[in-house]
Amino acid sequence: MSTLASRGVHILGPDAGEQACGEVGLGRMLQPADIAARVGALFQNTTLTGKRVMITAGPTWEALDPVRGITNHSSGMMGYALAQAAIEVGAAVTLVTGPTHIDQPPRAKTVDVISALDMHAAVMNSIDQQDIFIAVAAVADYRPIDTASEKIKKNAEQMTITMIKNPDILADVANLQKPPFCVGFAAETNDLLDYARGKLERKKLDLIAANHVGGSETGFGTPDNAITLTSQNNVIELPKQNKNALARTLIAEIAKAYTEK
Ligand code: C5P
Repeated sequence: MSTLASRGVHILGPDAGEQACGEVGLGRMLQPADIAARVGALFQNTTLTGKRVMITAGPTWEALDPVRGITNHSSGMMGYALAQAAIEVGAAVTLVTGPTHIDQPPRAKTVDVISALDMHAAVMNSIDQQDIFIAVAAVADYRPIDTASEKIKKNAEQMTITMIKNPDILADVANLQKPPFCVGFAAETNDLLDYARGKLERKKLDLIAANHVGGSETGFGTPDNAITLTSQNNVIELPKQNKNALARTLIAEIAKAYTEK
C-alpha cells in the first residue's frame, strides 16, 4: 500500500469498527457518502483557495432627482459569472455591485451600491485586504453635478445638465502603494486592441480583458461574450461562448498570471 501511495495513488479506507466476522478493528469499507465526499475533494479545483478576490459588477446609477438618473445597459452578468467562477476554485469573493436584475451568487459577500461614488467608497473600504481586484463594472464616467432633492418639473423647453467626472475606481486601486493584482475590462465599439493596450499602460494594470460591444451578439446584456485577454507580454483570444464558461476560463487565466507574477 505504501508503494502505491508513493506513486501518487490515493487510498481511501479501510475504516475501523465492527467486522462481519465479529472482530472489531480496521477492515470496514468507508461509508459510500464518505467515499463520494473524499473523491469529490480530490477533484476540487483549489487554484485560488486562500485568496481574496474583489469584483465590481453592473452599471452605476447617477441620480438627477429622486426618481431619475443616468445609467447604461450593463446587466452585471459577466461580473457575477466571474464571482461564481472564482468561488468555485476556492476564492473568498467580495462582489461590489451596482443595480442589476440577476440573482446574487451564493457564497459571495455582496455589497450593493448605486452610484460611482458609492462604488468607489465600498471598494476602497476593504481593498487593502484583497489579493486580486477585477473591475468589470460599467462605471458612469460622469455624474450630474447637482442632484435635485425633489422631482424635476417639465416647465422649461430646454434643460441643461452639467456633469462632473467620476473617480476612476480601477486606476485608484492600481495606484495604491501596495495594489492587488489588477484586472480591467475594456468594452469598445472600435479599435478594440489599441484602446485596451492603452488602458493597460495608462491605468497600470496587470491584465485587461477586451470585448467588443455595440453589436447584437456579444457584450452588454447578451448571454455570450468573446474576449481578448492582454498583458504586457501576452495576448490570449477567448472565442465567443456562454458568459459562465468564459468566466471559468478567465479566472483560470487570471489565477495563472497572478501566480506567475
Ligand atoms: O476607461 P474605461 O472606462 O473604458 O475603463 C474600463 C475599466 O475601468 C473597467 O475595468 C471599469 O470597471 C473600470 N472603471 C472604473 N471606474 C471608472 C471607470 C472605469 O473602475 N470610473
